[in-house]
Amino acid sequence: MGTPATCYLNGELMALGSARISPLDRGFLFGDGVYEVIPCYGGVPFRLDAHLRRLANSLAAIELPDPLSPAGWPEVLEQVCQANGGGDQSLYVQVTRGCPEQRTHEFPARSEPTVFVMSSPLPAAGAFADGLSTTLLEDLRWARCDIKAVALLPNVLLRQAAVAAGADEAILHRDGWVTEGAASTVFIVRGGELATPALHPGLLPGVTREVILELAEHHGLPCQCRPVARDELHEADEVWLSSATKEVAPVLTIDGHPVGHGTPGPVFEAMRGWFTRLRQETARGR
Ligand SMILES: Cc1ncc(COP(=O)(O)O)c(C=O)c1O
Repeated sequence: MGTPATCYLNGELMALGSARISPLDRGFLFGDGVYEVIPCYGGVPFRLDAHLRRLANSLAAIELPDPLSPAGWPEVLEQVCQANGGGDQSLYVQVTRGCPEQRTHEFPARSEPTVFVMSSPLPAAGAFADGLSTTLLEDLRWARCDIKAVALLPNVLLRQAAVAAGADEAILHRDGWVTEGAASTVFIVRGGELATPALHPGLLPGVTREVILELAEHHGLPCQCRPVARDELHEADEVWLSSATKEVAPVLTIDGHPVGHGTPGPVFEAMRGWFTRLRQETARGR
């Protein structure tokens, strides 16, 4: 048996197995909370500023005051990372509107937020580089998917529908336009040019998306953030998915039909190399 995982709950480090939250917690009752997933490479949180900025935006969007000072988050995350052995891991952060005495839909007059951080294993670099299968599904989620809300039932149902169809991930579309994956950002490559849906409230501003856009710019890969039509997926030479835990992964099939040649494409291989180098530099603390 490995060392028991250590988590942070409301100001204290403790064994994950002994952490307790009230059934009155509004995260449990309403999904009234937000979260982040932050990869750590070699014990160094990757793109911490961007993750903390998105957390602050999510908290502001649900009118929940930030329970920790801006300097407080890095310290707590460092504690949890070190308590779990440093190295590569994924930190999960959740803040909910706490546990008032009664269940009422409106915000409680008084309630301390619940702050929870845990560590999970991070897939190895390139773990998804062999490729993913996908299925196209209609995006049936709410209109504020830019908030990283813990209320993920639609995402759960969409991912499950993909898995039930024999696929790894769902690619979502609404009114003929690609939004994102059930838990990932979508990119297409056509004629050597990269494109990803422009940001709007119907999709999450992925931190990995930002990294890929920066790497593309840095290495002179033409790239556009613009509306991407669902039909473009079928004409693309390459389709990729990205997320904090998947990094960047090539899509080999959509509903059983091969994307391009049905193998990871050359533009993906270039991006994968750039990303892996960045991951290694982060782990070395650069
Ligand atoms: C719905 C959704 N879109 C996009 C992403 C990618 O975001 P990030 O790159 O910050 O992990 C995620 C990550 O979990 C997600 O859940």
